[in-house]
Amino acid sequence: MKPCCRILIGYRISSIFGVSHIRSNHKIVNNSSKLHSKSKLSCYNDAKCKVIGPKKGVIDLNRRAFFASGSNWGESKILGKNKLGVNKDSSRGILVIPHVASDFRNHSTSIDSHVNEKGFESIYIQGGLNVKPLVIENGNEVVKEDGSRVQVNGSGVNLDILKDLNENVETESEASNIEKEAWKLLRDAVVNYCGNPVGTVAANNPADKQPLNYDQVFIRDFVPSALAFLLNGEGDIVKNFLLHTLQLQSWEKTVDCYSPGQGLMPASFKVRTVPLDGGDGTLEEVLDPDFGESAIGRVAPVDSGLWWIILLRAYGKITGDYALQERVDVQTGIRLILNLCLTDGFDMFPSLLVTDGSCMIDRRMGIHGHPLEIQSLFYSALRCSREMLIVNDGTKNLVAAINNRLSALSFHVREYYWVDMKKINEIYRYKTEEYSADAINKFNIYPDQIPSWLVDWIPNEGGYLIGNLEPGHMDFRFFTLGNLWAIVSSLGTARQNEGILNLIEAKWDDLVAHMPLKICYPALEYEEWRIITGGDPKNTPWSYHNGGSWPTLLWQFTLACIKMGRPELAQKAVAMAEKRLSVDQWPEYYDTQSGRFIGKQSRLHQTWTIAGYLTSKMLLENPAKASLLFWEEDYELLENCVCALSKTGRKKCLRFAARSQICV
Ligand code: GLC
Repeated sequence: MKPCCRILIGYRISSIFGVSHIRSNHKIVNNSSKLHSKSKLSCYNDAKCKVIGPKKGVIDLNRRAFFASGSNWGESKILGKNKLGVNKDSSRGILVIPHVASDFRNHSTSIDSHVNEKGFESIYIQGGLNVKPLVIENGNEVVKEDGSRVQVNGSGVNLDILKDLNENVETESEASNIEKEAWKLLRDAVVNYCGNPVGTVAANNPADKQPLNYDQVFIRDFVPSALAFLLNGEGDIVKNFLLHTLQLQSWEKTVDCYSPGQGLMPASFKVRTVPLDGGDGTLEEVLDPDFGESAIGRVAPVDSGLWWIILLRAYGKITGDYALQERVDVQTGIRLILNLCLTDGFDMFPSLLVTDGSCMIDRRMGIHGHPLEIQSLFYSALRCSREMLIVNDGTKNLVAAINNRLSALSFHVREYYWVDMKKINEIYRYKTEEYSADAINKFNIYPDQIPSWLVDWIPNEGGYLIGNLEPGHMDFRFFTLGNLWAIVSSLGTARQNEGILNLIEAKWDDLVAHMPLKICYPALEYEEWRIITGGDPKNTPWSYHNGGSWPTLLWQFTLACIKMGRPELAQKAVAMAEKRLSVDQWPEYYDTQSGRFIGKQSRLHQTWTIAGYLTSKMLLENPAKASLLFWEEDYELLENCVCALSKTGRKKCLRFAARSQICV
């Protein structure tokens, strides 16, 4: 029997926004201004939907909206549907200032404006201060900074740079067989809902007797799948994913009688087939999200909303379909996520304060506080939002808050997370117990904290952003995802970004070895492992999150290398991964210090391993498309400081004082 479809969601008709806007293609039969708890939005075969759940729970009027609701939100309209039955917001039901949004795009430091103007004919991959600009002209020539030209083939691969690697025809055909296999596996992992593709399962190993939650669609895991589909010209699945997860965002969550914030995106969701209410044996499909209430350790999926925003921007950039991000419901979704991130707390730092395990590392690993991964994704999501938010009376305060946070966050990370030989030597000689606003050792770091491994490990050239910074505590471990996203989003300065890649190259045997790339370095061992992980048998030294090697990180490495004008480095990593991934059945992670063994409890046919590989290949073949996914330095942000300390007064604004340092 073909099941009907419905989404188990609670949806919000918020008095905060003063609008009963329609959040999906579904007809909402409701006219109250109440928040519904787990109302069921049923979607029958004719794609008509109605709320059939009980009215429960009243909206918390004390919940603070980040900015005042503008009168623009006071109108709603029935929206048209596209062929997928998804709202086509052809004439948006709000008063918007479209040229302001597009103006943002034009002023963005990313390169799309050039792309739009010249249709990929002449694309400037702008360098940071130390990066050589690359100009791709007419799809087959790269003009280097010095004016010399190198040939690229039709698909945009720089033949000169990759010549050696492309010489071996046999290797090439092997690679294309592996790509074919990967595409088949990726398509097999697709999850359908109401007959439409909405995501990919985390792992699809038929031999797996206990899939745990690997049969769900994880938000973070879907990102490389989405990019593979987008780069392959298949945007529908990504659009469906973005819209369906948006609906899940409005579910009223409760974990042991406590309701987490409204903008929270689930870590994952599953499509379940259940008997339709009424008991006549009819089946229906429901979307069932996990906001952490079922997750091991009840970890908060902080990164989900950030990834959602990053993917939304990528969708617009690659497909050119900007109408999606301009929809009322999508704009509201962005605002709710930002509302959660930017809300006032007891924070003393502009970095985001989170609990342990709130990102890709979703188990206790001593990354509570202000872990780099979250800061890099936060910074990226803020930059995305700055481009996508439609500016009107209702959003201008939010946009100002984004700008302020971006500039404060980049200063904070550049200044305090960065370590290289010189900085470690400074820390080594730090004075402690400094009481004053002018302290040099602001966080009271005792030099003894410098771990012995680091003293020999830090290369003379290059450096990296440390894993975490807290009062009296620097976590000196190298975390790959955070460092790569610092490059991609230009959270680091141009010099720092170069330094990170230099360090990865210099420490290739530690960070890449037999399988790219280590999730963090080094592993926690002995007492440290016992105390920091709580004796976690899955996170034993050099396994899983504790120094395991994760092939999915390949696509982010590739993106960072392309941005920094070093595709050959990524090519080397991809070529190495290619030799093993298919043979080893696309494992989730590898173990041991050099990444030689398939991980102890590693899933096989892990989707983001497969998709990460495909995305890396496609990015290398098409650097012009890759350039839509990263950002250059935004000099406007560096100018922006709201601390109100005069440049000449008794107290100096630190950011102005450090300007020369952070700009290089
Ligand atoms: C593990 C990983 C997490 C991933 C999930 C699904 O829990 O730690 O990052 O999203 O598996 O693959």
